[in-house]
Amino acid sequence: MENAIYLDEVDSTNSYLKRRCKELQDGCAVTARLQTAGRGRRGHNWEANEDMLPLSVLLKDPPERDNLTARVGLAVCEAIESLYAENAPKAGIKWPNDVIIGSRKVCGILCESVFFGDCANVIIGIGVNVSQSADFFEKANLPHAASLLMLAGEVPERGRLFETIAERVKFRAAMPFSECYDEYRRRVLNLNRQVKIISPNGERTAEAVDVASNGFLVCRDKDGEFEVSSGEVSVRGIDGYL
Ligand code: BTN
Repeated sequence: MENAIYLDEVDSTNSYLKRRCKELQDGCAVTARLQTAGRGRRGHNWEANEDMLPLSVLLKDPPERDNLTARVGLAVCEAIESLYAENAPKAGIKWPNDVIIGSRKVCGILCESVFFGDCANVIIGIGVNVSQSADFFEKANLPHAASLLMLAGEVPERGRLFETIAERVKFRAAMPFSECYDEYRRRVLNLNRQVKIISPNGERTAEAVDVASNGFLVCRDKDGEFEVSSGEVSVRGIDGYL
């Protein structure tokens, strides 16, 4: 793959692209064997050992930023499935963008923006759980997460996994959300389930009934239907992660 950077060790692949944003080209992707100060959402750590795959892709002034993380989630599902010939694991999405196999989270996504004047550069960070054991997730107190190895029994070669994900992310990021919508919606696993909607104002329980064409989650409770945006809320299943 053109524009691929392989590092042995890095603090964070997102931070690496942020620091070199000006000099690097659009579409450049970076991975590392070890990530020592990786960042997740809501202030979580995402340090990576050799059983995990951290990667980041730089998009310089992408054509559409709406629902970019949703399109990235879709791209990761497609990339993972494409790497398994037979018995490919079915990858789905916990709205808006957690990649789920067998009800467990196998990948997290953290998108960050760097502005230069009018130009918005986006750094798409992706952390894949590749080959950790069940013991790892127990010790880390992450009961809802699992690795590809645990869920699919085997794992693609690391370099192929990195390049296939990066290429598919660039492909979906170049498409408008409207063209990804049907495939995205088909993969959203929360639909027809009771969810807890968590916002700074508190929690609310409702049934997730659809994804609107603008990417919002359509929910229904006793007062009727309403839509929530991924920028404002997060959702959890009422009895479990999904
Ligand atoms: C989450 O909290 O679910 C998102 C985790 C994102 C982790 C990835 S690993 C590669 C990239 N570099 C980082 O520092 N974070 C992201």
